[in-house]
This record gives sequence, C-alpha cells and structure tokens, in this order.
Amino acid sequence: MIEKIKSIRAELEAVAPANLDEVEALRIKYLSKKGLISSLMNDFRSVPAEHKRELGQAINELKSFATDRINSLRETLADKGADGDAADLSRPASPAPALGTRHPLSLVREEILGIFHRLGYTIADGPEIEDDWHVFESLNFPPDHPARDMQDTFFIARRPDVLLRTHTSSVQTRVMTSQKPPIRIVCPGRVYRNEAISARAHCFFHQVEALYIDKNVTYADLRQTLLYMARELFGEHTQIRLRPSYFPFTEPSAEMDISCNICGGKGCAFCKGTGWVEILGCGMVDPNVLEACGIDPKVYSGFALGMGIERITNLKYRVNDLRLFSENDVRFLDEFTATHS
Ligand code: DAH
Repeated sequence: MIEKIKSIRAELEAVAPANLDEVEALRIKYLSKKGLISSLMNDFRSVPAEHKRELGQAINELKSFATDRINSLRETLADKGADGDAADLSRPASPAPALGTRHPLSLVREEILGIFHRLGYTIADGPEIEDDWHVFESLNFPPDHPARDMQDTFFIARRPDVLLRTHTSSVQTRVMTSQKPPIRIVCPGRVYRNEAISARAHCFFHQVEALYIDKNVTYADLRQTLLYMARELFGEHTQIRLRPSYFPFTEPSAEMDISCNICGGKGCAFCKGTGWVEILGCGMVDPNVLEACGIDPKVYSGFALGMGIERITNLKYRVNDLRLFSENDVRFLDEFTATHS
C-alpha cells in the first residue's frame, strides 16, 4: 500500500494539465468520492492494526498534497487565462487607481472667485516676491510707520526693498498702476508672515483681495457686496456686522463679522458666546492710495476687502488646525471627496 501511495504522489507531481477542464478531471480522478485517494481510504480499513498509524499518516499527507497541487494548478491556469478559451472577459478589471481630490483651500478659493465672477469681477495676479512700494509704501504705510508691524515681514537678505508679500493688497496697486478705472478685480494668492508655526498661525497662508474703483462708489456698495458674498458663502440667513477698524490703505476701515454659522447667532463655544465671528477686513480706498497709483481721488472712489481663505475654510468645514492644510496627509484630503468631487 505504501508503494501505491508513493506512485500516486509521483503521478501527481508529473501531471501537466493544459487547461482548467483537465485540472477538473484530475480532481475527479484523485480527490472525488470515487477517486483514487478515497479508494485508498477504503483499503485502509483492512490494514492490520500495527500498520494503521503509519499508513493513516501517509494517506493524509497524500490527500493534502493532492489538494494543494490541484489548487495551485488551477490558480496558475486561471491567472494565465489559459482555460482553453480566451481570457475571461467578464472578470472585473483591476480596480481603477484612486482619483485625486480637490484641496479644501482650492474649493473655497473657487467658491469665492465664483461669487465675485457673478458680480462682474475679473481675476488679477501679482508676484509673491514683491517690492516695498507695492506691499507698503503705495498702500499708505510710510517708512517706519508702526502699522508696518501689524504684519511680520520676511525680507530678502541684502535687499531690504524686496520682501515676501504679507498680503494680497499689493495686487491692488499693481492693477491700479496699470489699468484705468473702472476696475473690478479679485486677487487670490499666497502670502507670507514671519510667524511660528502652530495650529493657529503659519508662516504662509492664502488670501483673496477684491477691489472696486469707479465714479461714485460708496460705502453702501461695499456693504451690499459683503452681504451678498456672506450669504453666498454661508447661507441666505447669514447676517453681517461691520465694526470700525484701522488699515492704512482704507478710510474708513472696518472688520466684518458674520452671524456665527454654527449656532446661527445665539451664542456658542465657537463664537465665544457672542453670536458673531470675524471674517475679513475692508474699507473705502484711502485717497492717498488712489493718488499714489495715479488715479484722481476727486473723480474716483472705491472699496477694497481682503480675507484669509484658511479662515473661511475653517468656518465652513471646521478645520481647526492650520497645519493640516499644508501637510498633504491624504486621510485629511480624502475627506473632501464625498461632497465635492
Ligand atoms: N490686507 C489686510 C490684511 O492682510 C486685509 C485687508 C483689510 C485687505 C482691509 C483690504 C482691506 O483690502 O480693505 O490683514
């Protein structure tokens, strides 16, 4: 009987089926109820007791060898598609590579640009490495004026007049010096400030600036534009509030709050019980700025506003750690697929 077991094993080692049907025939021959290995088991019953242990073990080993061998032959042939016919075209293809997702800051930037596009604004651009005149001087920050300290600036070594722009307001003066009113532009871009990186501050972030210059532009135009923008971004029930503020390039200047979009203005932990959250700075363009750019302030007036895209994104999506925006952790980025792809 041992000889029989050995010869079945040798046969199995030598088989070379050409297709899956032949593998199935082998399975029937060796492993089915009426197959060779079952018949060995039948023979096993009449084996004398002293050989039972040894033979039982050998038969079991043969059975598992046969099972493994036939399974692996089947897999190899299935992988090759060599089941006699062509490959099985109904099998699912390998899964498509995962699609990338839009970055949350891009989503919000596009949304803001879309709002201003509907109001007739066009997109303007300017350099991130700027000169002092566009970032400060033209915007009514005289040299050594304390307002320059409102924004901690990165300067370029050995070129004190060249710096990384601290705000997109620099694009305002780029446009005002190169275009004639009416001007209606929106400028998205990256800005830099010398801040230690933490959940609440970063050495770079993103802003969108809007500028409107024409004859007879008034504070009422600014207010209505802001209200429209806030409601498009945060929903039609959003209220706005303008608080007096100071920026060198606007007079009067204001900061805008929206009714807290979490509690609807009732007061919650997020708005520190006030019902309001600040989202941007704005004001009527200071006549000195118009003059510096060659626009006659007796003929033209205008308004400007600037907001941080991270800030708006935090409010819309509750991202409360600024570092997440630049770490490119796909677990974070993937969260923006479902609702926005
Ligand atoms: N540039 C300001 C900042 O970065 C934001 C700002 C305030 C822009 C008022 C404006 C404005 O256009 O009118 O803090």
